Amino acid sequence: MKAGQIVDEYIKFFEERGHVRISNSPLVPENDPTTLFTSSGMQPLVPYLLGEPHPQGKRLVNVQNSFRAQDIDEIGDNRHTTFFRMLGNWSLGDYFKKEEIPWLFEFLTKKLNINPAKLYVTVFDGFEKIKRDIESEKIWRTLFESVNLNPDERTFFYGADKNWWSRAGEPKDMPVGEPGGPDTEVFYQFDVSHDEKFGKTCHPNCQCGRFLEIANSVFMQYKKTKNGFEELPQKNVDFGGGLERLIAATENQQDIFQTSLFAPIITTIENTTAKNYALNQKEMRVVADHMIASVFIIANNVRPSNKEQGYILRRLLRRSFDNFDLLNGEDINSVLEKIIDQYKDTDDYLVEKFALIKNVILEEGQTYKRTLSEAKKFIRKKYPSTGSERAGSMDEIKGTTEISAEDAFSLYTSHGLSPTQIESLGFTFDRQKFAGLMGKHQKISRAGAKTKFAGGLADHSEATIKGHTATHLMHQALRDVLGNQVHQTGSNITSERVRFDFNFERKLTEEERRKVEEIVRQRIKENLPVHFEIMPLSKAKEIGAIGLFDEKYQEKVKVYFVGGPEPGLDKAYSVEFCGGPHVRFTGEIKSFKIIKEESLGKNNRRIYAEVE
Ligand code: SER
Repeated sequence: MKAGQIVDEYIKFFEERGHVRISNSPLVPENDPTTLFTSSGMQPLVPYLLGEPHPQGKRLVNVQNSFRAQDIDEIGDNRHTTFFRMLGNWSLGDYFKKEEIPWLFEFLTKKLNINPAKLYVTVFDGFEKIKRDIESEKIWRTLFESVNLNPDERTFFYGADKNWWSRAGEPKDMPVGEPGGPDTEVFYQFDVSHDEKFGKTCHPNCQCGRFLEIANSVFMQYKKTKNGFEELPQKNVDFGGGLERLIAATENQQDIFQTSLFAPIITTIENTTAKNYALNQKEMRVVADHMIASVFIIANNVRPSNKEQGYILRRLLRRSFDNFDLLNGEDINSVLEKIIDQYKDTDDYLVEKFALIKNVILEEGQTYKRTLSEAKKFIRKKYPSTGSERAGSMDEIKGTTEISAEDAFSLYTSHGLSPTQIESLGFTFDRQKFAGLMGKHQKISRAGAKTKFAGGLADHSEATIKGHTATHLMHQALRDVLGNQVHQTGSNITSERVRFDFNFERKLTEEERRKVEEIVRQRIKENLPVHFEIMPLSKAKEIGAIGLFDEKYQEKVKVYFVGGPEPGLDKAYSVEFCGGPHVRFTGEIKSFKIIKEESLGKNNRRIYAEVE
């Protein structure tokens, strides 16, 4: 089945069961400092899983474009991709296991026509005080028996390392405040025999390639606390199924890159490089995967840089260029065109953005060439006897030159070149020593990432919420001072600071900056109440709600009011589309200060503010 068909069937199936389709959140998340990219459908729904009411109700469905940077190094096998689409359905304290599991089974076997005999499932075996999930097991048994299959052969129990899901992974890795729960996973079995290299007997979580996980229903009902786990105020279902893997199952195709979604892209790579996929699988998979991810990331307004999302994009593009070079590829254009062709039925905006996407990719190709030549210059200076010195031209480096691991590492940190890239320039170095330097470096950056994660999620969440409300006040204050043409173009709020982007053509004057600060401080002093209402989109527009929102599929929206309309106040100060959460009274914010204002390019400015 084609991607678009599966998406349509899935949405229809759950709409018929009372679900409302919600829009696909941006790949670069708004107001979530804990992560660079949206990596699952549930991520934008965290406040609602924790108990905030969702404007569209308690049964939701969507298809979420997702990206997992941690999988970059796994790309090259037959099942991993960094970018993928996730089918998702949610119950926010509404239905639970006895509806979710039979629906999932019905969808897979009746709508996608997957033979039930190809399906195997896993269930949670228990962890500390949280019991083994015999309820899910019972439901699966009945379902398998109903199609004359022996449940004993296809139902497997695993512990928290496999059948527990949270954004942070296993229970022990979850920060305080994080929601999670046991899950039940569905695996598709391919017609290949077990490879004993991976263990004596095969089972769903065996890595030999016989089984592929295609669906995961999380029973999101716990929250981590300082003393273990407590029940959330509601029992949720969070279902996620990777579209690319579902296609592989419906086509009984073990290699994702040979399914109807990827095969035409691979064929284009074969044609433009005059090489055969069978002999160059790894390189071709990397080119296809990384270019697809880059196309989507660029379409989400990220540009290659050395920071955050921009850095990930740069890494993807450069790895992709390298692999394309290894294949002696020249025309990346035809590959990009084919990607747009394959994805336009689900993401039509790619067509309109194609020229821009292509430009960004080609420009980065040029930048990368310059970087490589600078890297060679750096080495030539340090090792004057290299071939390049003698030949006087960098392209004429012949043979290999031994350089120190420290210099190789500095090419990695300052020029962004990976060990393989450095070697392909003709330099050899002590790989083991390099790995040691890398290990140290990663330890430091992991420690940084951990602090960021915990900071955004739990311990400082109060600070983040204050920053969020202050952002609404600042948004309105900017409009008061600069005019109503000003609106938000992006934001990112951490417990340390608020970052807010808006359209404006010039630097703010001292006077304007001071006025914005004064207005925000005044509103804080007034201790205005904050509340939200869920209303039809048309009404929200009518009352002049501002802010970023997506009109697609959104009939009802959540609108936050700061000040009024409460008794005694005829008009709210700020009315804005927003999912929350916010403080209850502005007086909970103690201080507000703009610390920096800068240009983000034409007609786009960025403000940083400190909020306490
Ligand atoms: N959150 C779960 C996952 O990402 C199910 O949606 O697998």
